Amino acid sequence: MSIAIDLSGRSAIVTGGGRGIGRETAMLLARAGAQLTIADLDEVSAQGVADEITAQGGRAVAVRADITRVDDAQAIALACLNTYGRIDILVNNAARWTIKLFKDMAPQDYDTDIRVTLYGTLHVSRAVLDPMIAQKYGRIINLISDAGRVGEPYLSVYSAAKAGVAGFTKALAKEVGRYNITVNGVAPGTTHTPGAADFIERAGGEEKLAKAYPLRRLGQPADIANAILFLASDLSSYMTGQIFSVSGGYSTAG
Ligand SMILES: NC(=O)c1ccc[n+]([C@@H]2O[C@H](COP(=O)([O-])OP(=O)(O)OC[C@H]3O[C@@H](n4cnc5c(N)ncnc54)[C@H](O)[C@@H]3O)[C@@H](O)[C@H]2O)c1
Repeated sequence: MSIAIDLSGRSAIVTGGGRGIGRETAMLLARAGAQLTIADLDEVSAQGVADEITAQGGRAVAVRADITRVDDAQAIALACLNTYGRIDILVNNAARWTIKLFKDMAPQDYDTDIRVTLYGTLHVSRAVLDPMIAQKYGRIINLISDAGRVGEPYLSVYSAAKAGVAGFTKALAKEVGRYNITVNGVAPGTTHTPGAADFIERAGGEEKLAKAYPLRRLGQPADIANAILFLASDLSSYMTGQIFSVSGGYSTAG
């Protein structure tokens, strides 16, 4: 006997799906049978992931989009709706972070972290809600971060933006539960991605950093994608407004 996760007939949007955790998530959801819309600022990488999924027999479209723009967020939702006729799953994955002590940050430095990480999540969530409400089905998964749960030095503004996404996750879950839409969060610890390479190096390298993790290793994108797959599937249908740290035990916050 075995248990399979089957997302056949479900359509999913992954923002920042061109690389790192987003790429791994898009590939995994496609392997489970979902039809993908991959949105990224970097059109070439988004198209590359879509091509890879198509080559493996799946369905995927790529959209070049900047999630800080309301019209781009709407274009992402429309691309998914026009291609597949519905939007079942949204993975709000794209984010940006500035690695600096707060005392060294100028107000204009705050902008990118907050605009992409918090506003981007709000814009794309808003764009998918009406179709999800109309079809009375939805799974929204927000990438948070242990930084937003326990605070991370050198990442203060990003920590604030992710704490904002955590609050939004819980509040939206309460607003839309009646429409059979669940909203949950996944909070990775440091995970090997192109975006995290600089942070890992500045923190003294992998070996040193891993000592802060009870499981004594950093995350791989697949560790995070597996948790997202669970939250995107009906195995999690009675869970909403929850945030799961997937971080080798770095944060045990409830
Ligand atoms: N990697 C880690 O250590 C780590 C830890 C905690 C949380 N996270 C979270 O996981 C998620 C993915 O992180 P990652 O390390 O894979 O990131 P990454 O930097 O490797 O990839 C991010 C992707 O998002 C895209 N993107 C950036 N700004 C965008 C915008 N305005 N519009 C559309 N796309 C945009 C980039 O082009 C890129 O393809 C993020 O939400 C991040 O905060 C990552």
